[in-house]
Amino acid sequence: MSGDVQELRVDLGDRAYPIYIGTGLIGEPAYLRKHIQGTQVLVVTNTTVAPLYLAPVVESLAGYEVQAVELPDGERYKTVEVWSEIFTRLLEARFGRRCTVIALGGGVVGDMAGFAAACYQRGVRFIQIPTTLLSQVDSSVGGKTGVNHPLGKNMVGAFYQPQCVIADTGSLATLDDRQLAAGIAEVIKYGLIDDPDFFTWLEQNMQRLKARDGAALAYAIERSCADKARVVAADEREAGRRALLNLGHTFGHAIETATGYGCWLHGEAVAAGLCMAARLSLRLGWLEETQARRIEELIQRAGLPVKPPQGMRPERFLELMAVDKKVLDGRLRLVLLKGLGQAVVTEEFDLQVLEKVLDEYGAS
Ligand code: NAD
Ligand code: GLY
Repeated sequence: MSGDVQELRVDLGDRAYPIYIGTGLIGEPAYLRKHIQGTQVLVVTNTTVAPLYLAPVVESLAGYEVQAVELPDGERYKTVEVWSEIFTRLLEARFGRRCTVIALGGGVVGDMAGFAAACYQRGVRFIQIPTTLLSQVDSSVGGKTGVNHPLGKNMVGAFYQPQCVIADTGSLATLDDRQLAAGIAEVIKYGLIDDPDFFTWLEQNMQRLKARDGAALAYAIERSCADKARVVAADEREAGRRALLNLGHTFGHAIETATGYGCWLHGEAVAAGLCMAARLSLRLGWLEETQARRIEELIQRAGLPVKPPQGMRPERFLELMAVDKKVLDGRLRLVLLKGLGQAVVTEEFDLQVLEKVLDEYGAS
């Protein structure tokens, strides 16, 4: 049985949904079953998560016609080809329009399962059970779903909101330290976007997070989800403000694509990207030296990279950044900082300063 459960809400009118956060939620039928319609349920998971958590989920679905598909594990399998295996299973099982797709796993599984739910028979119900820190604080909330293309990260996808998000913080016990740190990168991002008090809290509590203190993790997850839910509710389809959630990502996606998906974890690439955004903001005169240093120090204390991979040339960055989804009419837009907790989406920066910053990293 689960202990204290926090319930947040993503306020999207008739598509509003709850985020449940607590320990012991996987295998707890009460939260899951009330969001399922019909009798048919497909659980999408992967070969790592299935042996850990599939059985309790299936047990909690007693009485439903349950199928499961185990995808190969890894960012390099977040492809159209692997994604289509989900449809094969749905069709083989003769699942109809009233079926429900459940994503059980990290962000890769969540993004692929959500995109499949958006497309299968033009849209079926979808539930997120995120099992990594990164997916609990970010990817399971907000309805971005999709797969990668060899030429660009997350380039094929849809906005498609889940019925609910069930974040069992107990599942983080089996996550390795590197993956935990990757999730912390996205947590730091929220502090930098518009929550300076949270950034300060993170400075004071990073040791507790690294040591997996349950109360600290629960607080960080709740605050991150609340921060994200607020932004998504204001701008679901990224007409404006939601792009702030991409702080660090234009640099980060370029790193992921250049190094081959999976070599650098998404959160690691975002961490380096946050530092690069801070360094550019500093060079533009928008951020103070002490503020840029605080960002780098916090990211370092989280055990995350503060620089892009050695040998990644400025020209490669610029080439890959040009296919970013924030590019508007051929103009690169970036999320930069005008202070701690003051992110802006802007194309008003000197391209030469960006090139100089990329050169500095290339040379370091
Ligand atoms: P991931 O899904 O690859 O999971 C990381 C690893 O942890 C995998 O090997 C996975 O099998 C394993 N794992 C998952 N849960 C576990 C558990 N409880 N115990 C042990 N191992 C476990 O990576 P991720 O960091 O969760 O997600 C990254 C992905 O999310 C990227 O593809 C990124 O593009 C995407 N993303 C999407 C959004 C969005 O808004 N949709 C936001 C951020 C990131
Ligand atoms: N992770 C970026 C977004 O959800 O918009």
